[in-house]
Amino acid sequence: MAGIYIHIPFCKQACHYCDFHFSTSLKNKDAFLLALQKEIVLQKDYLSNPIIKAEEPIEINTIYFGGGTPSILSQKELMNIFDSLHQHYTISGDAEITLEANPDDLTIAKIKELKNTPVNRLSIGIQSFYDEDLKMMNRAHNSKEALRVVKDSQDKGFENITIDLIYGIPTLSTKNWKQNLQTAFELNVKHISAYCLTIEPKTTLAHLVKEGKINNVDEQKSAEHFEIMLAEMRKNNFEQYEISNFCKDNCYSKHNSNYWLKKNYLGLGPSAHSYNGTSRQWNIANNALYIRSFEKDFDAGKQSRFEEETLTTSQQYNEYILTTLRTMWGTDLKYIENVFGNDYLSSCLIEADKYILLGDIRKENDKLFLNDKGKLIADKIASDLFVVD
Ligand SMILES: C[S@@+](CC[C@H](N)C(=O)[O-])C[C@H]1O[C@@H](n2cnc3c(N)ncnc32)[C@H](O)[C@@H]1O
Ligand code: SF4
Repeated sequence: MAGIYIHIPFCKQACHYCDFHFSTSLKNKDAFLLALQKEIVLQKDYLSNPIIKAEEPIEINTIYFGGGTPSILSQKELMNIFDSLHQHYTISGDAEITLEANPDDLTIAKIKELKNTPVNRLSIGIQSFYDEDLKMMNRAHNSKEALRVVKDSQDKGFENITIDLIYGIPTLSTKNWKQNLQTAFELNVKHISAYCLTIEPKTTLAHLVKEGKINNVDEQKSAEHFEIMLAEMRKNNFEQYEISNFCKDNCYSKHNSNYWLKKNYLGLGPSAHSYNGTSRQWNIANNALYIRSFEKDFDAGKQSRFEEETLTTSQQYNEYILTTLRTMWGTDLKYIENVFGNDYLSSCLIEADKYILLGDIRKENDKLFLNDKGKLIADKIASDLFVVD
């Protein structure tokens, strides 16, 4: 079992808070799609771990189109990608195939087009149902569209829909955050990803805050939004299976769960990351260089398409802590003992102890889990548990 992530590095408009890799110029789109086709072929053996060479081909059980804005792709462009994937990979008949879609792209015609592709899960970037928040963040859609697109996608047959929301936005009052959650529940989606607004360096939002044009994120308000979210999600039978991810009726994101459960994945497209059990590699986050690297006359000696690293034991251990502690499956102490050894286990237990005493972490059946209080400072706890070489 493994996943494929495909990064579509284009957006029509730059959101003020975003530091993901994308370009607002679409002039390279066709060249990117050609390069992607080449990468699909070139990377076909990456998931077959060179050490544990599998006899059966690795089955792909999730495909995830992320961005950027994958919903800018036409049905034909998507189908060309699926054709190549089917030609070179073994894709499970019931694979979860997710596409991130921006509300302004989701006209009825577009939803129908998407329904004619193998995409069976839509991840819609709503962020907020209030115009003042959407304007402040420079989103390309308005609140009316945010409401319409979920219903239209359901009407046209998409049953598996997840929406993204952001809390802690300076313009978002606590009352409106509660209402955003309520609206999400009423829309009857089975999965919600909710992120705390992060002011990333070098983004427009960071400049606006520096110039005093927008208030900074208020940590106390963000914590209050987080607590409200936990309570409301519980009331509405949503399970928090990762700090920012909630689902109902077992509609977990299979793709993201694969990351957290340390399954292998192949990332295609600029900035995409891959992991096959032994090596981690990431593609260059530059559209022109990514495209050039697949051109015939490119001097590969001068510019590599991707960087690669083999993780040290401590790096592997730190990554294990960072990903598992945030999930409802917890951090498995037996796994740490078996895979990393006794020194790592003792270091983990010593560091975890103080948080156990404070009530931020609980230990159950040889596993560590974050309590609600601990979830608020998850990154701090994880970094305290890290081992530094
Ligand atoms: C990179 S976007 C790609 C999806 C799609 N282009 C969209 O905007 O809906 C994935 C999600 O990350 C979240 N996100 C990105 N930057 C963020 C930030 N600085 N703070 C909080 N959430 C952020 C947003 O909720 C967004 O929907
Ligand atoms: S949040 Fe989404 S639409 Fe906005 S710039 Fe980032 S990737 Fe593009």
